[in-house]
Amino acid sequence: MSSYDVIIIGSGPGGYVAAIRCAQLGLKTACVEGRDTLGGTCLNVGCIPSKALLHASHMLHEAEHNFAEMGLKGKSPSVDWKQMLNYKQSTIDTNTKGIEFLFKKNKIDWIKGWATVPEAGKVKVGDEVHEAKNIIIATGSEPASLPGVEVDEKVVVTSTGALELGKVPKKLVVIGAGVIGLELGSVYARLGSEVTVVEFLDAITPGMDPEVQKTFQRMLKKQGFKFIMGAAVQGTEASKTKAKVTYKLRKDDSEHVIDADVVLVSTGRKPFVDGLGLDKLGVEMTKRGQIAVNDQWETSVKGVYAIGDVIEGPMLAHKAEDEGMAAAEVLAGKHGHVNYGVIPGVIYTHPEVANVGETEASLKEAGRAYKVGKFSFMGNARAKAVFAGDGFVKILADKDTDRILGAHIIGPSAGDLIHEVCVAMEFGASAQDLAMTCHAHPTYSEAVREAALACGDGAIHM
Ligand code: FAD
Ligand code: NAI
Repeated sequence: MSSYDVIIIGSGPGGYVAAIRCAQLGLKTACVEGRDTLGGTCLNVGCIPSKALLHASHMLHEAEHNFAEMGLKGKSPSVDWKQMLNYKQSTIDTNTKGIEFLFKKNKIDWIKGWATVPEAGKVKVGDEVHEAKNIIIATGSEPASLPGVEVDEKVVVTSTGALELGKVPKKLVVIGAGVIGLELGSVYARLGSEVTVVEFLDAITPGMDPEVQKTFQRMLKKQGFKFIMGAAVQGTEASKTKAKVTYKLRKDDSEHVIDADVVLVSTGRKPFVDGLGLDKLGVEMTKRGQIAVNDQWETSVKGVYAIGDVIEGPMLAHKAEDEGMAAAEVLAGKHGHVNYGVIPGVIYTHPEVANVGETEASLKEAGRAYKVGKFSFMGNARAKAVFAGDGFVKILADKDTDRILGAHIIGPSAGDLIHEVCVAMEFGASAQDLAMTCHAHPTYSEAVREAALACGDGAIHM
């Protein structure tokens, strides 16, 4: 029996970051992972493979739509799908091997296999029981199922199957206009699929700024997306090569059927706790099936902690990473902290969509007086030069103190631009602080500064 200061279960962004930080802080650390490779959902079947396919398909889109205008003439590239999947796989491999390297470098033991927790202080993998002063559960999430929809990962797929289809489908039906549906829908729309998104609500990407939602949907329609909104999917019927999706329109309860070569089910994810033995251990769960933790990420069982997708909060890799670092610091007797008010969200479509902090809706609900500074990328010279003038930056600031409360960006490199606002928010900056900071020209970031200027005496280029 081996014994450790801490054993982490799961090697996704929550687990592997927690492991590295624990080791850096001098704790004897092991991480249990059941998959053949480290890195969890994110590196194996999530963030990284999806971004590789988004990148490759975006290159094709650029070649087909913008090259000629820039004087780059010639035949557009054709799609070698098998090679694109090889490229995606090599991206996964370098990243997962990178984590293996970091584990070795930090002297973290990788215990291979699926773990159960028979009692606090003990982790069982196969026939072996390992001892640990503390345990961190970082077992992540899995796709939520939808009644009447049977996933075979070939014709009716989750994101996992959608990342390695046998071929580019002619007709792709996406159930759910959330992050996965729109990112992976974008990949296939660019590669030539006819993409139809069936969404229960009347707006895409629930919870997002309504102006961003409308602009985003308009842009996606321009890229060939079709949307069936206010439609509740009732079920799917699949053969070996085709499927039918039945949905009911909420406005009149009428039933419709749509044909597809592939159906992507992207209606959310749920915490993955199967096989851990949490019931027996007596770990309290939330009503939504997440592991309940206190503000130090400790569960109701002393010495058992949980982080990442398996607990409450946005299911995002960077949120899991931050919790991993903070929980490690708590275990090492330091002060671990995550500022849940400043966790950015990014959708890696083209253009990108990013947000942080409050929305106008949440501020109205809280009765907080706010002002809006908005700037269109049409007024940004760099964006216009690269066909990226559609979109805007919106900054929300406190009406009296000018403190930045949130930001919503749709436009070029939105996923990078948002971090300037995140840092400003962490420092409790005002919109004026951002507006007074010199921004290099010509950069997209000038649009952020202009939105901050618009919170005060006005933007210059609008
Ligand atoms: P996970 O990454 O899910 O890792 C959990 C690990 O635990 C898994 O490897 C699993 O095998 C292992 N495990 C589970 N149970 C056991 C057990 N009993 N014993 C041993 N091992 C076990 N987020 C972003 O921030 N940006 C993105 O661009 C992004 N893109 C995404 C794209 C897709 C298609 C998907 C599906 C998700 C995406 N996400 C993205 C979400 C992101 O992947 C998750 O939020 C993140 O991976 C959660 O990290 P985690 O450490 O909590 O869990
Ligand atoms: P999601 O929660 O983003 O979107 C699900 C959508 O499905 C919602 O719009 C919902 O209204 C709709 N829906 C639910 N039931 C339906 C039904 N019966 N019929 C029609 N529509 C229905 O979930 P998604 O896209 O599956 O993503 C899961 C998680 O993965 C996200 O919460 C996100 O945190 C994470 N993720 C993050 C990414 C990023 O950060 N770029 C990329 C991909 C995933």
